[in-house]
Amino acid sequence: MRPSSLPCTVLLALVACGPSSSVDEGLGEVGGLDTSEAGITAFVREGRYREWLAEPAPRRSVRSHGDRVRVFFNDVLARSMAEGNRVHPVGSITVKELFESDGRTARGHALDIKVAEGTGKDTWIFYEGFGPNYDDNYYGRGHDTCHGCHADQGTDYVATPLPR
Ligand code: HEC
Repeated sequence: MRPSSLPCTVLLALVACGPSSSVDEGLGEVGGLDTSEAGITAFVREGRYREWLAEPAPRRSVRSHGDRVRVFFNDVLARSMAEGNRVHPVGSITVKELFESDGRTARGHALDIKVAEGTGKDTWIFYEGFGPNYDDNYYGRGHDTCHGCHADQGTDYVATPLPR
């Protein structure tokens, strides 16, 4: 069952819910980004990642995340990937724009944010939210919905190759 099919009051203690949703892992700013759920939602809504290194255009998604996607990498992550690191430093961030199959109509955003040194799912906060309200998001350190695929397909959970 989708969480949105239950009243918010029932779910508040369990999951992110409602437009003022503000689940917070309590890690503050990492890599210049407020890592609370509300902070990440504001960040993607304002498009504050759009100057980052990016894939040239929306492309077909590989086995996940709907039909069309475009991935952005911040400097910290891009440098680490270019160096071929197996483990990325704290402050590494990647943003995935999610589109309808037309490749233009925005659906939402997914993010991985490296919040602790070392390896393992809990070194990342995962976030995925959908517009226009971003009120029913996936959010959390080592989020159960996200970490399995990313552990299998990625290097330190990052699955998309750096654009050339
Ligand atoms: C079914 C497997 C699967 C699940 C579940 C999944 N992902 Fe992904 N994700 C992928 C694959 C494969 C890629 C890279 C291929 C692509 O971009 O098409 C990817 C790419 C991404 C990217 C771009 C950077 C990167 O790591 O490559 C982000 C950000 C992302 N996923 C976030 C999330 C979040 C947040 C969740 C949980 C809400 C999640 N993913 C759940 C398979 C998955």
